[in-house]
Amino acid sequence: MKITTVDSVTYGVADLALAKRFWTDFGLALEDDGERHLLFSALDASTVEVRLADDPALPPAFEARPGVRETTFGVETQDDLDAIAAELARDRDVGIDGDGTLHCLDPLGIPIAFRVSRCRTVTAPDPEFNMPGRIGRLNARGERYDSARPMEMTHVVYMIPDTGVEVDFYVGRLGFRISDAYPGRGYFLRGGASNNHHNLFLLNPGGTGDRFGFHHLAFEVANIHELFGGGLNMTRKGWKTMLGPGRHPISSCYFWYFLNPCGGGAEYDFDSDVVDDDWVAGEFEQTPETFAEWCLAAGMEESLLYKGVQTGETIEDG
Ligand SMILES: [Fe+2]
Repeated sequence: MKITTVDSVTYGVADLALAKRFWTDFGLALEDDGERHLLFSALDASTVEVRLADDPALPPAFEARPGVRETTFGVETQDDLDAIAAELARDRDVGIDGDGTLHCLDPLGIPIAFRVSRCRTVTAPDPEFNMPGRIGRLNARGERYDSARPMEMTHVVYMIPDTGVEVDFYVGRLGFRISDAYPGRGYFLRGGASNNHHNLFLLNPGGTGDRFGFHHLAFEVANIHELFGGGLNMTRKGWKTMLGPGRHPISSCYFWYFLNPCGGGAEYDFDSDVVDDDWVAGEFEQTPETFAEWCLAAGMEESLLYKGVQTGETIEDG
């Protein structure tokens, strides 16, 4: 059950052209540009697929809003895939398509899939940060990013009404591990062979109904400068911030989320925790402070300085 990655996610949308513009601006590479199908990749070869919402190739929609219609987790070997197929077939339908990918529904009806991972390990450029006593960049100006090029797809997030049944399934049946938790409410889960702090976060937001479903998809970028450069580029292109920039205490990362016309949010992350068997899982109370150490609520769109940068005016001119 050696799940290593989120290998791919598939969206069902009404407007392919809008989806193409969003993901291209976000920094994914367009690999297939069909009339009814788009395929994008991050640097690690993880993929985002986009299909028209009525495409029969999609699993049935499990929520009324647009969003991710299926999440595909990567495993190390065919033996791992066979073990997952045998485990899941004990109590649910498991489809196997032509390329060997397994498809099924989780206990709440969320479509998931599994395949031998097609992702590759990517290595960020050496950090060129100057810190007292640690010179990373001598006689050279710091790098500026006009846009981002996400390196790895790291996690998906769902809002759900029942974490118990889901954690039993993902941990007990599929070998995910709990990296951190809001006990009874939220679980940061990583694949059994993953070093990402989480590949899947399941949160019960409380209440009923309209908040349940896909929430966001996250990518790691190379450094903090790329995170801000990517976020500013998205803002210049007119995409709205969902939340950020800011920093999460749990997983330690800097973040910036954008509202995605494909559904939910798309998140840039940097400096997320990397963990192994020695990681000690924490339990936290779910509060604004455990969610964000700090963050801007609505990006930098309304920033006076940012507007000055956009128009070429100076603060004094404004
Ligand atoms: Fe996230």
